[in-house]
Amino acid sequence: MDQKKATLTLPDGKIIELPFIEGKMGKPAIDISQLSQHGLHTYDPGFMSTASCGSAITFIDGEKSILLYRGYPIEQLAEHCDFLDVAYLLLNGELPNQNEKTKYVSEVKKHYLLHDQLNSVFRGFRRDAHPMAVMAAVVASKSAFYFDEMNVYNRNHRKISANRLIGKVPSIAAWSYLYNLGRPFNYPRNDLSYAANFLNMLFSSPTQDYEINPVLVRAFERILILHADHEQNASTSTVRLVGSSGANPFACISSGIASLWGPAHGGANEATLKMLQEIRSESRIGEYIERAKDSTDSFRLMGFGHRVYRNKDPRAEIMRKTCHEVLSELGLENDSIFKLALKLEKIALEDDYFVKKKLYPNVDFYSGIVMRALGIPNSMFTAVFALARTAGWIAHWNEMFVADNLKIGRPRQIYKGKLLRNVSLDRNVSKD
Ligand SMILES: CC(C)(COP(=O)(O)OP(=O)(O)OC[C@H]1O[C@@H](n2cnc3c(N)ncnc32)[C@H](O)[C@@H]1OP(=O)(O)O)[C@@H](O)C(=O)NCCC(=O)NCCS
Repeated sequence: MDQKKATLTLPDGKIIELPFIEGKMGKPAIDISQLSQHGLHTYDPGFMSTASCGSAITFIDGEKSILLYRGYPIEQLAEHCDFLDVAYLLLNGELPNQNEKTKYVSEVKKHYLLHDQLNSVFRGFRRDAHPMAVMAAVVASKSAFYFDEMNVYNRNHRKISANRLIGKVPSIAAWSYLYNLGRPFNYPRNDLSYAANFLNMLFSSPTQDYEINPVLVRAFERILILHADHEQNASTSTVRLVGSSGANPFACISSGIASLWGPAHGGANEATLKMLQEIRSESRIGEYIERAKDSTDSFRLMGFGHRVYRNKDPRAEIMRKTCHEVLSELGLENDSIFKLALKLEKIALEDDYFVKKKLYPNVDFYSGIVMRALGIPNSMFTAVFALARTAGWIAHWNEMFVADNLKIGRPRQIYKGKLLRNVSLDRNVSKD
């Protein structure tokens, strides 16, 4: 069957035929990769209309509020799986059977411990450094530990790197916080689940064990699952772009952490809680809603809106339920921040501005409240997101090498600067 084509008519009447990609799940695209042969580029700031790659990992339908990892709905994964099931799924394409799971868990746990030399890397930072700054730097520093033996084009090397990263990132995240507090670095425990191990590292101390509460561990597990991947967002695209040059995987993941830190991306859960703490009382909600609607004010309602979900964020509903479960387990149903959040949500959802622009609460609106209830400090919210997203980042990084048309990422630009000119021999001459 002939391939369908899209036609592009240029101002001079020239017609260019472009391959039309049917796409799966009703998501067609136009292949413009040959346009440069005609001396043309497309212009798409923010990649609003550009697919930078093909991927079989995650599917999102923002209009229909669908999120699938390898074809499985996020709701089912959050209900029936743990985080390492999901990490395995993202990396390998299938959920593990019992044997595969046992083997995978033991492979990941083998990499839990950090090199002892990393103690000195942590100790080089100011005590008040933000955990994300420390995490980005420490993860990047691991490329100096695993450099010589690393060949990114070798499948087995990539697999070991994935296990190393998923195994070590919980300790790196927890230690970034412990260093901040001046507390001793807790070691990981292989006898605990991935989620429980992280909470234990964060909260136990040599003088006091951390009491593992299964409801709280499950809630944390859900946070990890919901944040594990989200196709070509800013940080994942960053990881792919850095990785496309053949860079060391630790350096790639570090660049993802740096990108994630921004408040428009992973920093939103921290920003949401800060905003709720700043609003403080229900009587001030109206003032903040008005500010969010004011186009001359840069303030936005944090935890609302999403680049891809132009309808509800399917993760938000799961997080909302989890929020209720955690607060009820801890007897915090009357928590003032939670009540404020519910009130703000209600007012915003009934407001014409938010309704017309289809701005709904996103997953970050609730995940901050859950993490606060678990005792996780604001400054660690994005670090937890990075911990979860490491699974997605490394799956995308790996997929990039499996794809048969791996090319170094090199976007073009529309030049807006000065036209060709000569260096003046007299620099005092006016520069217009
Ligand atoms: C996520 C986000 C960056 C998406 O941005 P985007 O896809 O570029 O969407 P836009 O910035 O074009 O927003 C579309 C319109 O909605 C408005 N808008 C979007 N999010 C808004 C918010 N949270 N509060 C108030 N107005 C918002 C924009 O001002 C814009 O209005 P305009 O058309 O009059 O200019 C944006 O919604 C945002 O900043 N949200 C708050 C941060 C957040 O929660 N991020 C977490 C994402 S998981």
